[in-house]
Amino acid sequence: MSGARTAHALVFLLGCSALALGVCSASLEHGEAEYYVAAVYEHRSVLSPNPLELSSRQQALELMKQNLDVYEQQVMAAAQKGAHIIVFPEDGIHGFNFTRTSIYPFLDLMPSPRLVSWNPCLEPFRFNDTEVLQRLSCMAIKGKMFLVANLGTKQPCLGSDPGCPQDGRYQFNTNVAFSDNGTLVGRYRKHNLYFEEAFDSPADVDLTTFDTPFAGKFGMFTCFDILFFDPAVRLLRDFEVKHIAYPTAWMNQLPLLAAIEIQKAFATAFGVTVLAANIHHPTLGMTGSGIHTPLKSFWYHNMDDPEGHLIIARVATNPQGLVGTENTTSEMDPSHRKFLKVLSGDPYCEKDAQEVRCDEAAKWNLNAPPTFHSEMMYDNFTLVPVWGKEGHLQVCSNSLCCHLLFERPALSKELYALGVFDGLHTVHGTYYVQACALVKCGGAGFETCGQEISEAEGLFDFHLWGNFSTLYVFPLFLTSGMTLDTPDQLGWESDHYFLRKRGLSSGLVTAALYGRLYERN
Ligand SMILES: *[C@@H]1O[C@H](CO)[C@@H](O)[C@H](O)[C@H]1NC(C)=O
Ligand SMILES: *[C@@H]1O[C@H](CO)[C@@H](O)[C@H](O)[C@H]1NC(C)=O
Ligand SMILES: *[C@@H]1O[C@H](CO)[C@@H](O)[C@H](O)[C@H]1NC(C)=O
Ligand SMILES: *[C@@H]1O[C@H](CO)[C@@H](O)[C@H](O)[C@H]1NC(C)=O
Ligand SMILES: *[C@@H]1O[C@H](CO)[C@@H](O)[C@H](O)[C@H]1NC(C)=O
Ligand SMILES: *[C@@H]1O[C@H](CO)[C@@H](O)[C@H](O)[C@H]1NC(C)=O
Repeated sequence: MSGARTAHALVFLLGCSALALGVCSASLEHGEAEYYVAAVYEHRSVLSPNPLELSSRQQALELMKQNLDVYEQQVMAAAQKGAHIIVFPEDGIHGFNFTRTSIYPFLDLMPSPRLVSWNPCLEPFRFNDTEVLQRLSCMAIKGKMFLVANLGTKQPCLGSDPGCPQDGRYQFNTNVAFSDNGTLVGRYRKHNLYFEEAFDSPADVDLTTFDTPFAGKFGMFTCFDILFFDPAVRLLRDFEVKHIAYPTAWMNQLPLLAAIEIQKAFATAFGVTVLAANIHHPTLGMTGSGIHTPLKSFWYHNMDDPEGHLIIARVATNPQGLVGTENTTSEMDPSHRKFLKVLSGDPYCEKDAQEVRCDEAAKWNLNAPPTFHSEMMYDNFTLVPVWGKEGHLQVCSNSLCCHLLFERPALSKELYALGVFDGLHTVHGTYYVQACALVKCGGAGFETCGQEISEAEGLFDFHLWGNFSTLYVFPLFLTSGMTLDTPDQLGWESDHYFLRKRGLSSGLVTAALYGRLYERN
């Protein structure tokens, strides 16, 4: 089975980094049309020294020009590598921490591309206050590539509009997409704002897609949106989008929500490609971008280098996922047979030369380790320590039971724990979560389980599963030194969502199933 999967990976997904690009294109001449070259730029934005202060439009444009100059350099660098599309991060041009008034000079007027067909570079005088849009449109032309960027926009409104703010305008956190000829082809106004008092959320959700000649339809959303149904899941469900342009300004939070961790999990869960561009401000915990296909990621996470970073990768126009690629019932892998037995509640029997030994699932619980509570991601998790070389653990909270079936090739001194949370998350946003998480703890004490760590040595071959009440479960999988690994298999088996993996390439930091109950928040 894993042989078949490897073949998929080789045929449909190209494992090549920016450096290996030349080699890859040479070996792929016959399949040219099935791939495209994507670029994302993690940008260290030049920030306003005092975002609360009022400035003039001229001053705002001067500051934003410094960022746009860097963007243009990166577009040209990406063009040299044959990029078809480039994505820039949220807040990369204007910055953050503004008030509603202090951001005003930074806002471009934004006509709807549904109502007007407009090429800002070629028709600069059609609308006032569109300098940033003009500059981005010209870059797309110059680099001959599709371009996605995020900027602040304004839209005047009338008192007769009941939603119209008192100052007579809407202010939006906006992504724009330009085609390779500079035409504005998409506008997305962020729906799930993250404590951004400078901006309004549009009355109706923008479900924005744009067509490309190289990979069909792309969808767009921004940062925090990734945790909500609208527009992220609806775009995939109703528009059959296979590729996502995802500008973000994401503050890492281990163990479950580091930027690259959730980006990759979204790509894997939905079988889509995510072009994720984060801003680069390590002192604020912001780094982590990637070109994530369901099976392979080209990522960047760097807390030391103060500069930005361009990622370029060739990706399949038709991403191949993990879900549903295998017939689990015909699975011959012994650990998977054991998982299926435990799941069905049957005794699991191992036949060796002399005798037949049976373990009943319940028997494991006879010497079950103690459960304890610890805070992870500000949530009160219920956990059990993961002791010994192998075992089957279960831990439950509310209506979710999480299970771990594991074998360890070697024991490390580190403490690991299996945790469960089923409840409303209320810090830094309110949303309902069901999570099963195998994590390395911060130290030797139970109370350290859930702390932020990024280095680990522990290796596991495991099945992790839970009886989730939602179809939307994100597989989070992070290994030592902020590296990503790919599960061997995931999916549903007898109403349980599971993830399995053997042969980790480095120590396990987090393996988690992060379920979202969208209707309960
Ligand atoms: C923005 O606000 C955050 C939180 O209040 C603060 O930690 C950070 O230093 C501010 N950044 C800038 C660039 O003003
Ligand atoms: C742009 O602004 C100028 C000066 O305020 C005004 O005269 C002109 O009509 C405006 N143009 C458009 C297209 O709104
Ligand atoms: C520019 O690109 C758009 C969108 O891809 C396309 O519809 C339009 O025909 C193009 N215009 C020209 C002049 O090539
Ligand atoms: C899966 O395997 C079972 C048992 O070997 C077989 O009966 C079934 O036809 C297979 N299904 C598919 C879709 O291959
Ligand atoms: C966590 O939940 C348990 C069980 O509901 C409770 O006993 C404990 O006090 C909670 N801990 C905190 C810090 O709220
Ligand atoms: C999950 O399993 C536990 C234990 O068997 C059960 O109490 C709970 O109701 C189940 N949850 C769902 C949603 O079926």
